[in-house]
Amino acid sequence: QAPPVNVTVTGAAGQIGYALLFRIASGQLLGQDKPVRLRLLEIPQAVKAAEGVALELEDCAFPLLAGTDIFDDPKKAFEGTNIALLVGARPRTKGMERGDLLEANGGIFKPQGEAINAGAADDVKVLVVGNPANTNALIAQANAPDVPAERFTAMTRLDHNRALAQLATKLAVPVSDIKKMTIWGNHSATQYPDIFHAEVKGENAAAAVNDQTWLAEEFIPRVAKRGAEIIEVRGASSAASAASAAIDHVHDWVNGTPEGDWVSMAVPSDGSYGVPAGLISSFPVTTTGGRYEIVQGLDLDDFSRDRIDASVKELADERDAVRKLGLI
Ligand code: NAI
Repeated sequence: QAPPVNVTVTGAAGQIGYALLFRIASGQLLGQDKPVRLRLLEIPQAVKAAEGVALELEDCAFPLLAGTDIFDDPKKAFEGTNIALLVGARPRTKGMERGDLLEANGGIFKPQGEAINAGAADDVKVLVVGNPANTNALIAQANAPDVPAERFTAMTRLDHNRALAQLATKLAVPVSDIKKMTIWGNHSATQYPDIFHAEVKGENAAAAVNDQTWLAEEFIPRVAKRGAEIIEVRGASSAASAASAAIDHVHDWVNGTPEGDWVSMAVPSDGSYGVPAGLISSFPVTTTGGRYEIVQGLDLDDFSRDRIDASVKELADERDAVRKLGLI
């Protein structure tokens, strides 16, 4: 059997962690031929709860789980890591200004970026889930100058999956009939879910819907504000669906996207589609051999352009704010 892949998960005792770790250990992250060793990072107060999760992992007797180690020191947690899932973050609490939120998360993602820089494996791939995910990824990346910049990504796959599900419901087709969905921009309410390049059984999705009012007034806001809807209905934020999207993101990054389809990932811009180089913004990407490429040559009409520009402007503002704070 191949040597185990080291997977570090931060915020391991949180609700996404609880929905994520068992799926990683069962082989759904990387594939059924790849053993994994889990390295869990928590803050000291939550280490005991993480130990409880580790006991349950043990009780599953997963054939692919080579072991679970728990840390409260990022330097140790990221030692030799091949896949880093940065889930733990500082949530916005009542009355907290955006600057305070960015600063608090800087206190988490700066040292984690430094630890990845110092100790991660040469092939490390990083997915940031903890919000504000795109800018947290930028902070970690900026503090890991020896790691290729493109290895730092942020999660918009949950938004992508939500968009697939909403469109499938509207058209009364299975989600598997829909290809080439795209989320552009920031993982925030400004994101732009784009169906103009999506296909339903080979037909253009926007043409199949043929309902601009639904698109602008129902679909886009529903997808962009789905997180708030889940909190309202469930009484807690999305956890299992977020974990599922994290599995999808890394699985497809490592194992490749199918011919004729693509996925959405927030990745460092190379200037494609006018998104300033360096911003970690969501794009349509294809993946092969553990590398992703931004899909090129899509036409964007004014409706799409305006929405992408608004979300990218928000990303640029967040970057400027963390730059001012000396975090990048
Ligand atoms: P949670 O509050 O249940 O768990 C977070 C865990 O992170 C806690 O156990 C906490 O002790 C830990 N933590 C805090 N600081 C840490 C640090 N410095 N190092 C290691 N662990 C640390 O939160 P939940 O529901 O699991 O969500 C986690 C994050 O994911 C939140 O920021 C949430 O906003 C974000 N999220 C992102 C989504 C996306 O689509 N990108 C979707 C849903 C949630």
